[in-house]
Amino acid sequence: MSIETLLHESRVFYPRNSFSSQSNVSTQTLYEQAHQDRLSFWESQAKKLLWHQPWNQVLDWKRPYATWFEGGKLNASENCLDVHLATKANQTAFIWEGENGEVRTYSYQALYEKVNTLAFQLRHRFGVQKGDRVTLYMPLIPELAIAVLACARIGAIHSVVFGGFSSASLKDRILDSQSSLLMTADGGYRRGKIIPLKEMVDVALSDPDTPIKTVLVVRHTGETIAWVEGRDVAYSQVMEEPHFMKPESMDSEDPLFILYTSGTTGKPKGIVHTTGGYLTHAKYSTKVVFDLKDEDIYWCTADIGWITGHTYVIYGPLSNGSTVMMYEGSPDYPDFDRFWGIVARHKVSILYTAPTAIRSFMKWGRDYPDKHDLSSLRLLGTVGEPINPEAWVWYYEVIGQSRCPIVDTWWQTETGGIMITTLPGLHAMKPGRAGLPLPGIEAKVLDERGNEITSGGGLLSLTQPWPSMLRGIWGDSDRFESVYWSQFETYFAGDGATVDEDGYVMVLGRVDDVLNVAGHRIGTMEVESALVGHEGVAEAAVVGMPDLVKGQAILAFVTLTEGVSASEILSKELIAHVSQEIGAIAKPQKIIFTPELPKTRSGKIMRRLLKNLAEGKAAGDTTTLSNPGIMDDLALKMQATC
Ligand code: WTA
Repeated sequence: MSIETLLHESRVFYPRNSFSSQSNVSTQTLYEQAHQDRLSFWESQAKKLLWHQPWNQVLDWKRPYATWFEGGKLNASENCLDVHLATKANQTAFIWEGENGEVRTYSYQALYEKVNTLAFQLRHRFGVQKGDRVTLYMPLIPELAIAVLACARIGAIHSVVFGGFSSASLKDRILDSQSSLLMTADGGYRRGKIIPLKEMVDVALSDPDTPIKTVLVVRHTGETIAWVEGRDVAYSQVMEEPHFMKPESMDSEDPLFILYTSGTTGKPKGIVHTTGGYLTHAKYSTKVVFDLKDEDIYWCTADIGWITGHTYVIYGPLSNGSTVMMYEGSPDYPDFDRFWGIVARHKVSILYTAPTAIRSFMKWGRDYPDKHDLSSLRLLGTVGEPINPEAWVWYYEVIGQSRCPIVDTWWQTETGGIMITTLPGLHAMKPGRAGLPLPGIEAKVLDERGNEITSGGGLLSLTQPWPSMLRGIWGDSDRFESVYWSQFETYFAGDGATVDEDGYVMVLGRVDDVLNVAGHRIGTMEVESALVGHEGVAEAAVVGMPDLVKGQAILAFVTLTEGVSASEILSKELIAHVSQEIGAIAKPQKIIFTPELPKTRSGKIMRRLLKNLAEGKAAGDTTTLSNPGIMDDLALKMQATC
């Protein structure tokens, strides 16, 4: 298997008539409406939600600060639950399959009841007020979705921390958001093993600075766990008696959640999303991009700990009243056909997953999907990183059986929802090219000076404010302005892109020091700080190395402190150390020990040269280095180890 170069791809695929003729969008009307009057287009989308009070103004834009639907009042949980009760109380909201095979379903009525009870308890028993932060550190179980919606119901700001992060990462996020309550589970299942979440929580909270007063614990694995009296409370006990909780009337611009994501420097950024604009886009984009219908069984495989899970497992599909599949575990457990068994068992019709997963499926071979009946599928999607055409075509032919259109959706934690894609019933698909800005979204590829490029490569920018745009970085407006708004007049996404003669955008990946490992954003700085935090390490430089399955793998160049010598054991220890500091997703694949790192005369590490080495290219211009000879040494070491 090889990653083809995207630039030579010229195949074009068309949606079938049978798909287009039934699709939610089969004409240019939405594009035309949005083009004629963008704000009234967004206003008409917002009107599809239930508001307690209408807005005074659609958009107030004081670059880089946007206010959407100012004066409007609504509640996100009410828009995902209460609004459906009259017509869909008995319709299934969630079908959940545990890794061990257990299946649970929740109707809209049942989900509504659980959310109400938890919301009531959060408010009346634990005193969580509107605007307070609540951290959720959970496996992918229905209780996580219940907790998200319960927070939204009382206007508490949820901060979901992916269960794969370490206790140190969890602690940093708790401290940054100043959460007073944390909800977790005893553990979660991953590839048959138990991830001891509660144990990690106990370690994180052993720091006396953490402001958490209550830890709500869901019993999931049943393992023995430590219990801190007065702090830990069993979720089951809290949920014993049903309660109703009136949804809090939130301002359109009240924060709905914080979600941490990696940046180039320093600690992860707490991206802030607000209520009205975010929900407007979540509902609209889910409906048009996934062609969502009442009969669909819709499965987005992302964990709720990532933005994709927030928008396309919870808020988007539930605000549309659809039936959502959730699977707790790993795609290769107990065997490589787990996903295809789920599709067949639950008659999944829409599948939204990541290129890294698709490349794994390719590697495991088509026998696994071929064993199952995939005829329920009618639409496929991908997100998280560029998809190489070879994987795209495999997904199309083997999983979609050349019947299902594919939406390759480009967006980010910061954008809140999908920005660039083709619409499945309307557009031709070009493998490797995400497509066009959605109706209502304006995107351009710019050169370094901010001039638009109409063919060829440049930097991707969103050139008009949009409702679900991030409103800031929690507690750090300077960083918000400098990261996203200092490069251009318009929003800078951090991605390189090309655009073709039809206006189709191909996203090439990050142009900054953010890595994309298996669709997860990891800052080089975070990994470097973790490495340097080990007593044996003097300096570290981390770069991405092409990886056939994960897109990128992490390569770390490390210099050791005096008296410490390089060894295989130390290499393993450092890898484990990063895993402990950040989480297993940030583990370096390889450590290369070196007596020095390439540096300019002013002492700046030249990561670009290391990146070239990692990508198997010539090092490049070494004349500005204070130690030019080091690159030859490193090239030899790379050859010997990789
Ligand atoms: C990358 C995930 C190419 C991109 C929703 C972006 C993509 C980063 C695509 C955001 C795609 C996401 N094609 N690249 N279809 N989708 N990316 O914040 O580099 O976890 O900036 O949000 O993923 O990652 P994040």
